Amino acid sequence: MVIFSMYINGVGRTKFGDTPKSLVELVYEAMYAAIQDSPLNIRDIDAIFVSNFLGGLLNRQLHLNSLIASLIPGVNIPIIRLEAACASSSASLNQAIYSLSKFSNVMVIGVEKMNGTKFVNPIDAIATAGDYSLDTRNGLIFPAAYALIAQQYMNKYGVDHDVLEKVSYLNHKNANLNPLAHFYHKKVTRQMIKDSPVVATPLNLFDCSPISDGAVSVIISSKRYSDRDIPILSSQISTDSISLTQRTDLTSFKATKIASRKAYDEAGIQPEDIDFLEVHDCFTINQLIALEDLQICKPGQASELVESGDIEINGKIPVNVDGGLKANGHPIGATGLAQIFEIVTQLRLEADKRQVDNPEIGLAHNIGGVGGTSGITILGR
Ligand code: COA
Repeated sequence: MVIFSMYINGVGRTKFGDTPKSLVELVYEAMYAAIQDSPLNIRDIDAIFVSNFLGGLLNRQLHLNSLIASLIPGVNIPIIRLEAACASSSASLNQAIYSLSKFSNVMVIGVEKMNGTKFVNPIDAIATAGDYSLDTRNGLIFPAAYALIAQQYMNKYGVDHDVLEKVSYLNHKNANLNPLAHFYHKKVTRQMIKDSPVVATPLNLFDCSPISDGAVSVIISSKRYSDRDIPILSSQISTDSISLTQRTDLTSFKATKIASRKAYDEAGIQPEDIDFLEVHDCFTINQLIALEDLQICKPGQASELVESGDIEINGKIPVNVDGGLKANGHPIGATGLAQIFEIVTQLRLEADKRQVDNPEIGLAHNIGGVGGTSGITILGR
């Protein structure tokens, strides 16, 4: 089924990073920016989908639905909260798209506030996206899980840590062109990456995405209001088990393969038609796996793509031009929408110094946990 006549007409986001702003302040800033960017007024919005993963644990705040209603007094529209760990905002966008059969204009918001919270350690909170009884209780928090995945991938394909260092380096370099990125101001060298402390062998500090605060909002409509509106070509979600003990292969994620195949079919395109991608590099190894699962290259060949320069901003198939999760940041409930923000900005040719050359089709790949949920969105021009 092709999704006809659905458009993104407004995007807005906060800067990502460690900020004193509260959860609600971040939401308000992103909502306001999206409305400012669109031809609509807040009173034109018929429904809101909000994604947030850790509010209950880190901020002692759930029921964001009503919290958002308090920002728009007198507008008693449906506000739905949706959670799918790090893929929360792709899932929200997906459901918002289907709601356009009923509504004309729908706002999607993603938000996470992880720094400066005192209730639970963010790493422990993030671990709740795993399978508690099979993995987490035994110490398999996310950096450790991705370290096992990296070990298997590196052994299987004979890849060494240099390739992961290059992934990190390129994402930081791109973030230096993105004023809203978590690490916009941080100048990072290959030597800094090489010398950084080990988090879980073989992953070091610069293989990890950071703990970021931030919010993003996107407005979608069944009507095209202006030439700046960006058509949605496909949105697909696939879900798989989450425990590593239930996987036969740690070097590929089935949910991504299934969701992307369906998305290519829905959009009526092939992987080679994609001009640029935003992929879920929560840990650098995942950027390699994503490129293979999305069929941008064959299994085991992503390192060649990285080494060739093809994924750089001026390369054949630019990847994570906003800095990716690694350096743009990873405010979990907002991450999927941050990818959409970047793809819309690029397709409108409004990305300034990090603009890729004449893009027609962009793909966003957003996963929850170790590939438990995979959200694929394809946008065109
Ligand atoms: N990459 C690069 N630099 C980082 C960084 C990262 N991921 N995280 C922190 N830093 C930098 C900080 O900017 C700071 O630099 P400065 O001294 O120049 O100011 C320094 O490292 C120390 O920061 P701090 O906040 O004390 O780091 P930390 O040791 O508490 O946290 C990690 C580092 C890697 C443990 C943390 O970023 C992490 O857990 N990341 C993974 C998050 C995650 O699992 N997300 C879900 C994925 S599925």
